[in-house]
Amino acid sequence: MKSFVSLSLAALAAVAAAVPVEHGPGRFGPHGGPGSSRYSSSASASAVAASTTAAAATSAAAVAASSSVAVSSVAVSSVAASSVAVSSVAVSSATAVAAVASSTGTPTVYLAGDSTMAKGGGGTGTEGWGVFLPYSLTGVKVVNDAKAGTSARSYTNESRFQDIADVVTAGDWVIIEFGHNDGGSLSTTDNLRTDCYGAGSETCTSVNGDIVQTYPTYITAAAKLMTAKGAQVIISPPTPDNPCETGTCSYTAPRFTAYANSSVAAVGSMATFIDHGQYVGNAFEALGPTTVDAFYPNDHTHPSPTGSTIVAAQFVLALLCSNNPLAAHVVNTTSSITGSCV
Ligand SMILES: *[C@@H]1O[C@H](CO)[C@@H](O)[C@H](O)[C@H]1NC(C)=O
Ligand SMILES: *[C@@H]1O[C@H](CO)[C@@H](O)[C@H](O)[C@H]1NC(C)=O
Ligand SMILES: *[C@@H]1O[C@H](CO)[C@@H](O)[C@H](O)[C@H]1NC(C)=O
Repeated sequence: MKSFVSLSLAALAAVAAAVPVEHGPGRFGPHGGPGSSRYSSSASASAVAASTTAAAATSAAAVAASSSVAVSSVAVSSVAASSVAVSSVAVSSATAVAAVASSTGTPTVYLAGDSTMAKGGGGTGTEGWGVFLPYSLTGVKVVNDAKAGTSARSYTNESRFQDIADVVTAGDWVIIEFGHNDGGSLSTTDNLRTDCYGAGSETCTSVNGDIVQTYPTYITAAAKLMTAKGAQVIISPPTPDNPCETGTCSYTAPRFTAYANSSVAAVGSMATFIDHGQYVGNAFEALGPTTVDAFYPNDHTHPSPTGSTIVAAQFVLALLCSNNPLAAHVVNTTSSITGSCV
């Protein structure tokens, strides 16, 4: 067991940097103004103090993780309209304060998605995978801006991509993953989420008279907002709905896979494609229906915390397998994660 004082600053910084930071609940309608408090947040690093073998002690994050001494609480709050400024930090020792301060220059990974990624998932008994991603990363902050119920269209129309673009800086990452709320028909009603059907630049006029764009149009425009600020963008197709619900596990890529891939091509070298749907589909096929059905307590869309831990792990595996630039911040190896490269 390592003592607290033996932890290096770098190790503490790595742990502090990887704790999840949630943009808070204080939105006041679709276009929450700059005065809103949506970036207040709080997170505990204690969960990071997991069991890890001392053999991995060369990694700064692993050193901290192998200690039974947790950084007991790290409450980070930041204000809207600033570049994720850390305005107050409450920690258990002066050493940790210094470590947190030294981490504020680290890049941020912003998460843009729906309930399958968001804190709280799709309700009781479920959780979004973005909540578990930070534990596999080091040297970055993670800000989970995923919002339940959103689509590429509504995330655009509610100014959520713009809000991220306003704070993103060169060297940051933005992970964009939509699709669960983008389908449906615009012919007789408009739920403000359904995209215009199509792989290109088609437009639809909703029953309300709105001009509605396609998924790739929204995603490409959002990604370009980020890359224009020097951020790298990772675009993923949605997580699968339970691919085992018929009793036999079978994943078929939805149309959003090709759409997301086409947006990556349209954005260029600052964008990369992670086929999260395929990786999760493969992992769930390998686990089989009994195990996978238990991951879906309420419906076929929203996994339990256990299920979403695997969903997050498959994203990490895909980063490593494809040698994504963000893999430089992954603490794990491919061989430590169940599943194989696609
Ligand atoms: C954008 O949101 C506003 C406010 O909810 C709504 O009236 C409008 O129809 C939406 N437009 C589109 C294109 O979704
Ligand atoms: C994505 O597009 C590239 C070409 O840009 C292609 O080689 C690849 O197979 C596509 N992947 C998927 C999953 O559609
Ligand atoms: C990566 O390693 C960290 C530290 O041991 C662990 O908390 C996390 O769950 C691992 N991630 C995956 C995807 O296995």
